[in-house]
Parts: sequence; structure tokens; C-alpha cells
Amino acid sequence: MQVAVIGCGYVGLSTSVVLADLGHKVIGVEIDKSKLESLRSGKSHIFEAHLQEIMEKCVKSGTLSFTDDHAEACRDASVILIAVGTPTRESWQIDLSQLECAIDAVASALSKREGKAKGIEPVIVVKSTVPSGTMDYLKERLAAQTDIPFRVASNPEFLREGQSIFDTFYPDRIVIGGEDTESIGILTELYSGIIGQTFDDKPPRPRRPANFHTPIPVVKTTPRSAEMIKYASNAFLATKISFINEIANLCEEVDADIMDVARGIGLDARIGPQFLRAGIGYGGSCFPKDTKALQQHAGSRGYTFTLLNAVIEVNRIQRYRFLAKIRRALDPLPGRTIGVLGIAFKPGTDDIREAPSIDLMRELQMDRVKLRATDPKAIPNARAVFSGCEYCTDPYEVAKGADALILVTEWPEFINLDWSKIAKLMKGWIIFDGRNCLDRPSIEKYGLQVIGVGR
Ligand code: UDX
Repeated sequence: MQVAVIGCGYVGLSTSVVLADLGHKVIGVEIDKSKLESLRSGKSHIFEAHLQEIMEKCVKSGTLSFTDDHAEACRDASVILIAVGTPTRESWQIDLSQLECAIDAVASALSKREGKAKGIEPVIVVKSTVPSGTMDYLKERLAAQTDIPFRVASNPEFLREGQSIFDTFYPDRIVIGGEDTESIGILTELYSGIIGQTFDDKPPRPRRPANFHTPIPVVKTTPRSAEMIKYASNAFLATKISFINEIANLCEEVDADIMDVARGIGLDARIGPQFLRAGIGYGGSCFPKDTKALQQHAGSRGYTFTLLNAVIEVNRIQRYRFLAKIRRALDPLPGRTIGVLGIAFKPGTDDIREAPSIDLMRELQMDRVKLRATDPKAIPNARAVFSGCEYCTDPYEVAKGADALILVTEWPEFINLDWSKIAKLMKGWIIFDGRNCLDRPSIEKYGLQVIGVGR
């Protein structure tokens, strides 16, 4: 199929590359000049496993190209996917301006269609995360600007940063919220290769997991329900994290171990083991934004989402509870040297949006602590927003003379440090484990003390 993808960020680029690799003819639209330049020169501007290799392959075979011209991309497209950003305003309300610009550009592009292309009734699909009812609003806006017939659909994605190509090839489900059976049918055809897994998984594609079942379930529904599925999924996952964090806090009061408790809970098939890792709370570009946007959205409809309000509040407090633990153990703090292991909001990414590390460092800086921090990928991003610490590329450098270390991001390289070497380098002996990822006995045998969450 001929596909236009508007917006080549994480979602747009991953989708473009996978669809092109499955044989569709994809044109990606990117209006940011430097990103477009990089894409045109064959280099991805984001790092995701498998992305660069598959992109090169598709550009070479002619199934993938990039432009900043909406009319060129939409000229013959039967599917137009919109994957632009939906940031939040100060009030946490969703800012739809990028989507509105994209819709206006699509309207103008459709009006320029000529000849045979005029007969194609394209499906305009929103992949961006938006509140329920947004597709209806965008449809009206588009219809007011063009006479060309079109259909609309909402098709949210659930990909994780760092695993976006894997998640696009092997999703748990595909959600298609179409306004009619035709639009649902067209999108089902677009994803038929993924649904039936009719492709081989030879490199550069990621390997198919051994226990993978086909066909992939497809949820066929209305745009409003599809939009809600995306928010509800992220809010539910955030709820699991805040729930386990509260249980962890309680474990500290009653001298129980959250690791055993989480395992005991997660083995119940109705609950499941995932997203039950207690720690200093969730961060990133999705959970904080989406939970607050859903809270706002509910409020705008006169509904008080009591549970979600608590989930957000628990997550906000969690990092400060951890900080209180640090303050208590290292009292008095002024003049101390603390090393921070991990700045990114999770391993495998350089993303520091809403990362607990930055809040922690800001607070410790106010306590007049001398900070040193390291991260395998996120130092350049961290430097841009926080200058109150010395950034080191080597974790052992961070440990040198430190009164304590705080592990904030569970990068494998930090879990597998040479702890006997760390013990010799440090002045103090406490390791605060914000992710409960360290093996205590193998570290404490060197005279160090590991303080985790809920243990
Ligand atoms: C998330 C969703 O997983 C994805 O489906 C959606 O499309 C975008 O948002 P992402 O933000 O990339 O993806 O990260 P994810 O791996 O889900 O982790 C989110 C945050 O939760 C991280 O800060 C992580 O450290 C935290 N987390 C996760 C926990 O604290 N405990 C857990 O058990 C799991």
C-alpha cells in the first residue's frame, strides 16, 4: 500500500521503517530541517535497536523515503498516518497544535490531488496519544477544508522506548478505532503482515520471541474507544507501579521484603509479574504526561478520577521518600560527596524527561552536597538541564572518595560493577539502590551497606 507518515519521531519513524520493511511504499514527512537532513542522508536521528539497519535497507530498496512536503507524501497515499507530538501545556492539558497543523497540511495536500489519485479515498489515521473525542474534532476540522472524500481512524501504539522496532514487529495487540468497517478493513490490510506474522525474522529484523502466538489479536472499535484504550493502558501500568511502591513503603514499616511480596503477588495469573518492580517511581515521556492528561480530561468532563489522582501523587512523593532516607542516613548532608549512578529515566535510552535523577540531584544540590554523576548515554542531555554536578564517564570515577552512591537507573553495567573495587574507592559505605536491582550479599561482603526500597 502507499503510505504517508507525518512526523518522524519515535513512533512515526519506527512505524515507517517497519511498514516499509514489510513491503509497503512509505514516505515519511519531517518538517524539522536537521532531522530531515539526517534522515535523507540515511542516518536515523534517534537511537533504537535495529532501526538504522532496517532503515538503510528500505531506503536502498526504494520502499522508504523522506520529505518535508506533505503534498508529495500524500499525493497517492491510501493511508495517511499522523504521528506528531502531543505535548502537554503547563496545566497538563494536551496541546493539539502540532496535530492541527498536520491536519491542515493534509487538507491542503488532499485538495492538490490530481487525476487517478482523486479517486482514492484515503484513511487519515491518528497514532499520537490524544483524549477521547479528538479524532471527531480533527475530522470536522479536515472536512471544513477539503471536498475530497476521506475516512478517519485512531490507531494508538504501545511501543516502549529502546524497544520500539521490536514492539512494532511483535505487538501484544493492534488497536484499530475506525469510523466505519471500510476504514477498519484498510488498516487491517495495512497490518496484515504483522497480524499474521507472514515475514521471516532474519536480521536486521529483531528475532521473534519463541512463545509468540499468531494471529496477533486485533481490537476493532470506534475512534473514541481506541483513544481511551491508549490512556487507560498507560494509566493502569502506572497504577501497578504506584501500588507496588505503596506496598513497598508499608513493607519497610512491618519489616517485610517487597521483592518476595511482589513475586508472591505476581505469580497469581490474574495479576501477572510485570510492572511490579518497586523503586523511586516511574518517569519518562509517557506515564507522567499521559496520567496527568487523563486526569485533566476526566476533570474537564466533571469526573474526579480518584484512583488516578492517588497514583500520580504516590509517584510524586516516592522520590522524596527516597531522598528522606538518604538525608537520614547521611545526616548532616552539607559538604558530603554523593555519586549518582544513572540519569536516564530507564536503561537503554538517553531520555531524561521526568527522570527521578534530576529531581534528586536538584534537592541534594540545595543540601550543599557535592555531586558526581554518570550514565552510559544520558550525560549530554543531563548537562543541558542540570549543571550542578560533575559528570564522569566512568562509574569508578564517581565512586572515588564518595560518602555514598545512589543507583537511580538500573543499567546492567552498574549492576555488574566490581564492588570490591568500589568499596576501596569510596570514603563511605552506603549504596542507595533506587531500583532494588543489586544483589545485596555479593556487595555487602565487601563492607558496603545496600539500602533499597521496601526491604
Ligand atoms: C511506556 C509504555 O510501556 C508503552 O506501552 C507506551 O507506549 C509508552 O510508555 P516507556 O515510557 O518507554 O513506555 O517505558 P516503560 O519501560 O514502560 O517504563 C516506564 C517507567 O516505569 C520507567 O521509569 C520505569 O523505570 C518505571 N517502571 C516500570 C517501574 O518503576 N517499575 C516497573 O515495574 C516497571
